[in-house]
Parts: sequence; C-alpha cells; structure tokens
Amino acid sequence: MVSEHVKNLPPPLAQFKEVQPKYTAAQHEAWRYIRQVSHPFYLEHAHPSYLESIELLDIPIDTIPRIAHIDDKLSQVSFGAIGVNGFIPPRAFMALQYRGVTPISTDMRIPANIGYTPSPDIVHEGLGHTTMLANLEVRRILQLFGELGIKAVSAPEDQEYYEATRHLSILEEDFVTTEEQKKEANERWKLANKAAYDAASDARRLSALHWFTVEFGLVKYNRESRIWGAALISSIDEGRNYLNRTIRPLSLETAEAQYNITIQQETLYEAESLDNILDILEKFRGTMSGTSDVGIESIIKPEERTHKFRPTEKQKRLNRIYKAMRECREQKRNTYWLRESWQKLEKEHEDDWLAPLGILEILTKGGFNPQLRSEIRASLEKKHGQSKDLEKLIGDGLALFDKAA
Ligand SMILES: [Fe+2]
Repeated sequence: MVSEHVKNLPPPLAQFKEVQPKYTAAQHEAWRYIRQVSHPFYLEHAHPSYLESIELLDIPIDTIPRIAHIDDKLSQVSFGAIGVNGFIPPRAFMALQYRGVTPISTDMRIPANIGYTPSPDIVHEGLGHTTMLANLEVRRILQLFGELGIKAVSAPEDQEYYEATRHLSILEEDFVTTEEQKKEANERWKLANKAAYDAASDARRLSALHWFTVEFGLVKYNRESRIWGAALISSIDEGRNYLNRTIRPLSLETAEAQYNITIQQETLYEAESLDNILDILEKFRGTMSGTSDVGIESIIKPEERTHKFRPTEKQKRLNRIYKAMRECREQKRNTYWLRESWQKLEKEHEDDWLAPLGILEILTKGGFNPQLRSEIRASLEKKHGQSKDLEKLIGDGLALFDKAA
C-alpha cells in the first residue's frame, strides 16, 4: 500500500518519483555482501536507531529492498519513501523530508565502488538513511532540516555546486568514464565547492550541518561514540575507520566547517544526543538571514540520467554466472553448476572476486567438494594479495562464512 505521505505529494515533488529498476543477479549479490559484512559491525557500533529501524523496516539480506516495501513499513510511523534518480535538487530533497518522505536513489553502485561511492544509491539509502527512521527523534531531526532547508536563502553558487556534484557522481558510477573526464569533472567540482563555501549562504551552512550529522554524524550513547550518519553506515570502509578520525563536539559553529564529499572525512562531529542536534538546529534558525521566497513550484528536475550504461556482452555472461549461483544457493539448481560456473569465471572473469566468494560459501556451507573449495580459496588468496582494498574485501567475505561454518 502506498503511504498517505506519498499519495499526498504535490506535483512539483511527485515528479521526482522513479520506478525502481529490475536489478541484476550481480547487483543483488553485491547488496548481500555489503549487508552481511556490515551488519555485525553496526550492531555493535551504530546508534540503537539502526537496529530499531532494520527490524521495523524488515530490510532484507539476500536481495535489494523494494522501495514500495520500505514505504509501506514506514507508513506505520507516519513517514513514507519514494524512489528517485541520483542526487535530486536540494530544495526538492528538503521539501520531501519536511513532508515526511525520504527520497531513495534507485541506483546500485558499480562493483569497483563496493566499499564507498559519493553517489547516492540504494545501499546508501536502504542501509544508511532508512535505517534511522524508526526513531521518533530522528524523524523530527529530518523534518526540522527539511523545514529550515525550504526556508534557507541560497546563493547562485549553490546551484552550480549542485550541478557539478551531480555531474561528478554520474561519471563516478559509469563504466565508460575516462580518467580525463573524471579529472575535468573533479576540477569543476573543486571550484564550485570553494565558491559555494565562500558564498556561505544559509542553505550552504545548513548543508554543512546536514553533512556532519545526517550523513557523517556520531552520537553519544551510554557514554560511547556511536555511528549515526547514513554515509558512515552505508560505507563499510568509512564506517570502520571512524574511531581513527579526529572527533569534535557538534555545535552551531559546525555550520561554518568545510566539507568535501569526494574523499573520506578527516574530521567527524559528535552530538551529545539526538536532542542535542535538535537544539543546534533551533539555534541555527536564529542565525538565518531571512526566509527564501522561492517556492517548490520552481524546482526543475534535471534532465541528465544517472547510470546510463548498458551492460557489455561480457558483463551479461558474468551476470548469468551470478544468476546460476543464486539458483544453487536457493536450491533451485544442482550444485554441479558451481564447478561449471567456476571454470567460466577462471576463463573469462579473472578480476571478479565476489562470484568465487559466493560459490565457495555455498560449497562450504553444504560441505561439498573439498577439492574445488581449496582451488577457489587458493585463487581468492592470490587475488587478496593484489591490493589493500581487495585484501579487505575478500578477507571480510571469507571471515564471514568461516565464522559461520
Ligand atoms: Fe545521503
């Protein structure tokens, strides 16, 4: 059932509603990996609103969640969710939040960005933002950000910053982007970021507070620093490094801090409690220079689509391997296929580590084929040594089912 909040959206906001795509077996597998690897860590280190929300929303493990399901579950706490395409204009984002609707980007990150991506995607939203929403104070914080966000006066530099950010995030998630294009987009983004920071509009200052709370915030709980921000919860890389960062107390001055969305954060801010964030936002209201008279009617939906790529024939073949593997896991196909899938991986998809990991998991859990198991493990261990990133990703995957075995 569509939530009342979504049903009642006015056309300027309803225009952002996107139909969720059908994801590939490889994308579901990437979600499954992230969801499984990150959960035990966040159970221990995230603010309790995480667990509360994962339970309320019944966030699945094996498949990418359906936004209709999240919307339906959220309606129990008087909230809602819609699918959107990538970064939407900040005014639309804030207006949706104010109305109790969380926008969820329907994109799914490419495998190269499995640990972190600056682009909003279903992992960032489904594991990060929505896993806060069971908590009433959290919903109040988001709605207050929304209210202030609609009222905040912005500068022309903020619009260029938004456009440069969206453009960069589209390139980051595209298989066919060249290094030259990335460099150019990065240069444009850096200039836009500096200009928006220098212009220091109320909208920009509010964004800094949003960034260091809703995205990267820590909140004290039982005298411990707990992870609360969505970007930390949805990034296995950044989340686990949080204790190595400089941690400063969150205050009204945090609104003046510089931030950079393209790199891992060096400084994180910690709120005394969720109430403390509400207090700071109320103080921020008192510093605002005026009230914007730009209504939501003037919001323009960007024309350029995110995730424009089409899979190559090789990627399609790889996806068929993921599909066969999933069917074996679900016992819809004989595990005999796993050997054949492994041979195909060896022959054509040498750089893929997630499928061999999945095959090894099925074989280990079922106690099948020790010889094939050691063959796959040896190959994974070889890949393991190729880079620090791979060492972490493969190591985490192996540790997960080694523990369960
Ligand atoms: Fe976000």
